[in-house]
Amino acid sequence: MMPSKGYFITFEGIDGSGKTTQARLLEKKLQTIGYQTHLTREPGGSPGSEWIRKLLLKQKALEWSDLTEILLFFAARKDHVEKTIQPALDTGKIVICDRFTDSTRIYQGSENPHHRKIIDSLQKHIIQLEPDLTYILSISAEEALQRTISREEDWRLNRLSKSKVNTLIQDFKNLSIEFPERCYLFSGSNSPVEIAKEILEFTMARFNA
Ligand code: ADP
Ligand code: TYD
Repeated sequence: MMPSKGYFITFEGIDGSGKTTQARLLEKKLQTIGYQTHLTREPGGSPGSEWIRKLLLKQKALEWSDLTEILLFFAARKDHVEKTIQPALDTGKIVICDRFTDSTRIYQGSENPHHRKIIDSLQKHIIQLEPDLTYILSISAEEALQRTISREEDWRLNRLSKSKVNTLIQDFKNLSIEFPERCYLFSGSNSPVEIAKEILEFTMARFNA
């Protein structure tokens, strides 16, 4: 049984870890069972935040300062929560979101404790909504680079060194230690169907807990 006021599931991990694939598979399976779902992603997921996504990811010429970038991610998130996520939860849907605040904690916060503090504060005071369940997909840096090599959008990832990608992988894994009540680590290296089966079983167990 799922709570009547909806359920919020997020997928996290480095680019290429299989979040989009697994989010789609989970949505399909839950719909087959009869649940009402809404699949979304960040940055983006509402008209306003899709515009901010373009400013963040598509405009290579715009060099935002670190703090401005954090504020843009949170501006996009606030609009996404207000216009898309919360209304869907209020009608009892399961919202599945490809990335959320954990991505900002890792990409914009893990190298700088002051920035991490600001991120946690924006989450607490501005966003307020926390996921009920977060799946962290973990793959090796080699697999990630292989899977994303041809992506135009991933100019951000592809300019990172392998050791930086390895640090990000570890930082994502550490979320399951920092937030053990909601963050669960899954290997993203198995076949998509196998991972989807594990995630569906885990999700149903949480609904029934
Ligand atoms: P993300 O959203 O984390 O960037 P995607 O789901 O878009 O990851 O997957 C990145 C690429 O890897 C895609 O080409 C996808 O088809 C492929 N892929 C996804 N999951 C797996 C998997 N478990 N094994 C092998 N390739 C995968
Ligand atoms: P996304 O479209 O999820 O890329 P992918 O499917 O390849 O994982 O995310 C786009 C990029 O935005 C990705 O490189 C991660 C980055 N990002 C941040 O740096 N901070 C954030 O808070 C979010 C949500 C994403």
